[in-house]
Amino acid sequence: MKWNSNLYDNKHSFVAEYGKSMIDLVNVEKDQKILDLGCGTGILTNELAKEGATVIGIDSSTDMIKKAKLNYPNLNFQVADATNLDFENYFDTVFSNAVFHWIPNQEKLLYSIYNSLKDNGKLICEFGAKNNVHKIQTAFEIVLKQHGYSYCSEFFFPSKEEYKILLEEAGFEIEHIIEYDRPTPLADGEKGLSNWSCQFFANHISNVSYKEREQILFETEKICKDSLWKENQWIADYRRIKIIAVKNK
Ligand code: BEZ
Repeated sequence: MKWNSNLYDNKHSFVAEYGKSMIDLVNVEKDQKILDLGCGTGILTNELAKEGATVIGIDSSTDMIKKAKLNYPNLNFQVADATNLDFENYFDTVFSNAVFHWIPNQEKLLYSIYNSLKDNGKLICEFGAKNNVHKIQTAFEIVLKQHGYSYCSEFFFPSKEEYKILLEEAGFEIEHIIEYDRPTPLADGEKGLSNWSCQFFANHISNVSYKEREQILFETEKICKDSLWKENQWIADYRRIKIIAVKNK
């Protein structure tokens, strides 16, 4: 997926806003080394650094890292593949907000994180849980089908039971794991859902004509309207999984 860092910051700033509550889970102490995995434009990397930690922000998108470096020139940002991290026994904490669901190879991801952590280091992360954006995805799939296209979700949204197994297989001990609904208001009034779809379903509509894309987005909105349009804004049916897991010696 090609990320648009401006659209992301302007219309999807709620991602980082929700992520700020995640920072409270990180017990930042001075001289702690923290990896912000999938740092995007660096908003949460900066929050962690403000607390006194030494933070490295990584992202697979060059556009996001370019913007992060512009936003926070004093911080350390690198383009990197989360499933192939170049660190051994280095971090006290690996932090990640709204990223894991984009990564197909979870075994490789957890192995890579495990290796990058010191003994007793912590993985603190949050991402989409089973049935995350289920109503939006179902509507989009129906509409694509009516237009003669198929939809195969590219997201990984596990239940906490499924993810617990993956964590334990990778060698982590689970300190805390929860799954919950987090209805999420989208910015920009009526345009909220189509902006969201343009960003996050980009791979599925980038090759259709402008006119057909507008039609697909309109029809998706029509299906979602009854359940997700509330008091002048779109409320996306997000579900989250939140995890604190420790690297076993
Ligand atoms: C999420 O953060 O849950 C999410 C974002 C974009 C697409 C799908 C899920």
